[in-house]
Amino acid sequence: MTQQRQYDVLVIGSGAAGLTLALHLASDLRVAVLSKGQLSEGSTFWAQGGVAAVLDDTDTVDAHVQDTLIAGGGLCHEDAVRQIVGDSRDAIGWLVEQGVPFTRERREDGSESDDFHLTREGGHSHRRIIHAADATGAAIFNTLLQRAQQHDNIELLDNRVAVDLITTQKLGRDGNQCLGAYILNRSTGHVETVAARFTVLATGGASKVYLYTSNPDSASGDGIAMAWRAGCRVANMEFNQFHPTCLYHPKAKSFLVTEALRGEGALLRLPNGERFMPRFDERAELAPRDIVARAIDHEMKRLGLDCVYLDITHKPADFIRSHFPTVHERCLAFGINITKEPIPVVPAAHYTCGGVMVDSSGRTDIDQLYAIGETSFTGLHGANRMASNSLLECIVYGRAASRDILEQLDSIAMPQNLPNWDESQVTDSDEDVIISHNWDELRRFMWDYVGIVRTSKRLQRAKHRVDMLRAEIHEFYSNYRVSRDLLELRNLALVADLIIRSAMLRRESRGLHYTLDFPAQLDEAQDTILQPPSAGD
Ligand code: FAD
Ligand code: SIN
Repeated sequence: MTQQRQYDVLVIGSGAAGLTLALHLASDLRVAVLSKGQLSEGSTFWAQGGVAAVLDDTDTVDAHVQDTLIAGGGLCHEDAVRQIVGDSRDAIGWLVEQGVPFTRERREDGSESDDFHLTREGGHSHRRIIHAADATGAAIFNTLLQRAQQHDNIELLDNRVAVDLITTQKLGRDGNQCLGAYILNRSTGHVETVAARFTVLATGGASKVYLYTSNPDSASGDGIAMAWRAGCRVANMEFNQFHPTCLYHPKAKSFLVTEALRGEGALLRLPNGERFMPRFDERAELAPRDIVARAIDHEMKRLGLDCVYLDITHKPADFIRSHFPTVHERCLAFGINITKEPIPVVPAAHYTCGGVMVDSSGRTDIDQLYAIGETSFTGLHGANRMASNSLLECIVYGRAASRDILEQLDSIAMPQNLPNWDESQVTDSDEDVIISHNWDELRRFMWDYVGIVRTSKRLQRAKHRVDMLRAEIHEFYSNYRVSRDLLELRNLALVADLIIRSAMLRRESRGLHYTLDFPAQLDEAQDTILQPPSAGD
């Protein structure tokens, strides 16, 4: 019999949300933090622009809240927005305490001052984005990881893929509690049983469901899919954010060109040099992302273009190199000198605004199961996330969930007698082409039919295809041994289905959901909440 592992807290995901939570618990509890690949695998490592927070004396919590509500198109939950923005100064204070090397203001003589440099991004009425040049995510991740590595109570486990949650309901026991999870150990190829008093989904988003995305391969919606199969509600899955500016180059897989370039004055241009954003919105390049991405999509379709251009050449070369070293170097590697020429850019899927429904402490519908970070739906983002609000949400909710767990400690015992994963009925697959074919097909029709501009007919086509794919994947999953690719495909297909169903239910255009069949916005804003039929797929 395979040995079962036991932890006080099982954290599935080693990004900003998971590491923050683990660090807040580690003095009291034994915590395991899993990543399905390397520990740096998630989106956090790739975040560029920064973290939105009320830090400047001329800025206020009310102003940040108002900007978020406006970007969110009437669907933000104001209580969640106030909670997260209200905690922003403390959250940044904690990151600074951990040692995150945020960029400081420079004095006229070039020396560093004690004040942090704050940049601007779309939708923000103030300079309020604290950053570490244009590699903020790496600075946060590396710092938090180093802290976690110093803690005896934190076990960091890479190459472990959570397959499914173990719940009392699935085992036919009383109550509605999460007891742990089945985890594929990629080094041994076996599925291990992990018992935990508390389980936390911190698995990031699902933007890999689209053919073109700024996200790393890990963003396959595993947490949303696992929570759904376990019986949790999900909300607002139709709101997929497309980042307006990803590098357009045949060899540049998923490289984002940070919105902070536009914050510092970069302009969007057509191939003939003409600016077009002022025709679409008075805030021009600094309009919220849904508006900018849709304007680019419109111009590309109208003129039959492969891309548009982002131009910052009017700024001094030294300024560009010091503020945007990552973008500068990466573009140079592809032969584009951003100090002298405009950058070819296209929109790409970037952020999952919907997710697993949680309360203000990250609690889901199942006891002892939490969801934090991009996998969760807190109500912060509404119909469109404002730039740099998501890392903030990860830190605030990592802390909020840790407090809730600590308060319940004495009443929750370690689960006992969990059944092991049954592999007796499955064999090794001899047809892995099914996985790669379905993966490509799914991501292409999601891009073509459920992308920036939707119609009812396109959504129906997508629904028909996803139903067929899911039946095929289910058969494959039931007969063959699990692998990371198969698990991700199974999860992506389920998440695609949730996105399509949510999009079909929204009979209006709002924020990131734009459909030619219902171009107007309804008077009343309502969340799209999906309830799983019962525990199971
Ligand atoms: P992630 O950082 O995505 O981590 C997910 C973790 O879960 C990974 O460790 C992964 O391995 C693990 N995992 C997933 N599934 C499983 C499984 N089945 N089993 C085990 N482990 C699993 N936001 C901002 O606020 N500011 C920015 O400047 C910014 N820039 C961005 C730039 C880019 C290129 C991208 C892609 C995103 C950016 N975002 C930004 C969004 C932000 O980075 C993410 O929303 C945030 O980092 C998500 O953090 P997380 O902890 O929820 O998940
Ligand atoms: C960016 O740097 O443009 C990304 C910011 C974000 O997604 O919040």
